[in-house]
Amino acid sequence: MTEKPQRYASWTAGKLPLPELLELKRRGEKIVMVTAYDAPSGRLADAAGVDLILVGDSSGMVMHGRESTVAVSLDEIVFMTQWVTRGARRPIVVADMPFGSYEASDQQAVENAVLLVKQGGADAVKLERGGTSIDRARAIVDAGIAVMGHVGLTPQTATMLGGFKAQGRSADQAKQLVDDALALQDAGCFAIVLEAVPSPVAKAATTALGVPTIGIGAGGDTDGQVLVWHDMLGYYEGHAPRFVKRYADLGDVIVEALGRYAEEVRSGAFPEEQHTYKMPDEELEAFRAATTRR
Ligand code: KIV
Repeated sequence: MTEKPQRYASWTAGKLPLPELLELKRRGEKIVMVTAYDAPSGRLADAAGVDLILVGDSSGMVMHGRESTVAVSLDEIVFMTQWVTRGARRPIVVADMPFGSYEASDQQAVENAVLLVKQGGADAVKLERGGTSIDRARAIVDAGIAVMGHVGLTPQTATMLGGFKAQGRSADQAKQLVDDALALQDAGCFAIVLEAVPSPVAKAATTALGVPTIGIGAGGDTDGQVLVWHDMLGYYEGHAPRFVKRYADLGDVIVEALGRYAEEVRSGAFPEEQHTYKMPDEELEAFRAATTRR
């Protein structure tokens, strides 16, 4: 049983209330977010005391071996959100709106956000970019669903940004980025992800915004941090961005365990007595008698 994090004086198994994020920002306490894609990882993130879980479309790359997040479908996010919400009780679960699920119209955005909440069980949704996403965010908030914004490197439109690289590195781009974040806040977003932006720009956005910023590759001055599960736990063979810190090497642990398993199967050391089922002696005798008679 994990110890209750000290800062939650009244910590219960109940859901972290969304307004608590604003309180954390006000008190200068950092907000912790991580991605998760299934029930066990949702449960583990909950046990570790994280505040927010993102069912990210990064799943397309780290789980499903795709080159980008673009092909991830709404169904995939719905299924994964169902799994995560079965495992996680206290963290706020945010479902990513995948590429193609919100760009066409406010109606499309609202219908798909409703699906993620009703079928997936998400507490909130996240969409990428400023521009037309600002109106989409407003429409979803107006429909009664909490929305998280995401500016800077937005992987769904990485091709238009020139690839997976840092954003907001010129004065004009940095100003546009902060303006987009402010517009998303005005549209009703409860928090904004800042991905791969220079830390002074992230700091300026964090100061300008009343809602919390969650950084990934945005330095230490944001109100919180998010990392991708497989990247931070060393469970992904692909290229990890420079902002990733590895907190474990689960890939190595798994290869070592599978290697021992393979060795023991081949040598006959596994399974042992304790791994096998028994039957009553008289039933065994009767069974043998019946089969030898054949
Ligand atoms: O899909 C994802 O995991 C994300 C994070 C990188 C913020 O959008």
